[in-house]
Amino acid sequence: IHPIRIAPSILAADFSKLGQEVRDVVDAGADWVHLDVMDGHFVPNITFGPDIIKSLRPYTDATFDCHLMIAPADPFLEAFAKAGCDVLTVHAEAGPHLHRSLQTVRALGKRAGVSLNPATPESTIEYVLDAVDLILVMTVNPGFGGQKFIAEMEEKIRRIRAMVGDRPIEIEVDGGVTPETAGAVARAGSNVLVAGSAVFKGDSVAAYRGAIAAIRAA
Ligand code: DX5
Ligand code: ZN
Repeated sequence: IHPIRIAPSILAADFSKLGQEVRDVVDAGADWVHLDVMDGHFVPNITFGPDIIKSLRPYTDATFDCHLMIAPADPFLEAFAKAGCDVLTVHAEAGPHLHRSLQTVRALGKRAGVSLNPATPESTIEYVLDAVDLILVMTVNPGFGGQKFIAEMEEKIRRIRAMVGDRPIEIEVDGGVTPETAGAVARAGSNVLVAGSAVFKGDSVAAYRGAIAAIRAA
């Protein structure tokens, strides 16, 4: 029901020129821009927050797909919405009131996503499906780029695909997505493919374009 979308993660980009990197990767064929927000608490790494995202917003009209690896998330949802994020994804493990978090995102006029760590079963989100626009399946443990794809997650994607039924929910995969793994996750039922190192390992717009095209072709 949804088109395949490639969402490069700027986690692997050159942080000294993020605006240009965002512009380049969209010019190179990215559908969405994936923004990894980390707090050093929910995950063992720290990246950037709403002010940096706000400063990137003028560089493109592409969808800003914001992956919040922060706990708690609720106190910051409004700031990320105002910064220009279009999709706001919270982790199911980040707090006891997932349904409230998702409702808050929609009340802010944004698309509500929920993410599952590799160890979290899909049953965790069974009762929030009607509050969700996107499900992000982590295929590595969140916190760092460049990790190895966890192949057991293909089965989880298939189960989520079946659980979603005909609801208009996008299924996103994040972690270790390369031209080698992209085909399997798409066949399992995901349509939004995040890729960090596989895209930004190149050093030119042409290299980004080639990497995005290779993932799409897979
Ligand atoms: C990991 C992040 C990912 C990461 C993916 O915590 O959520 O978005 O950037 O990086 P790669 O594609 O290199 O595995
Ligand atoms: Zn991510």
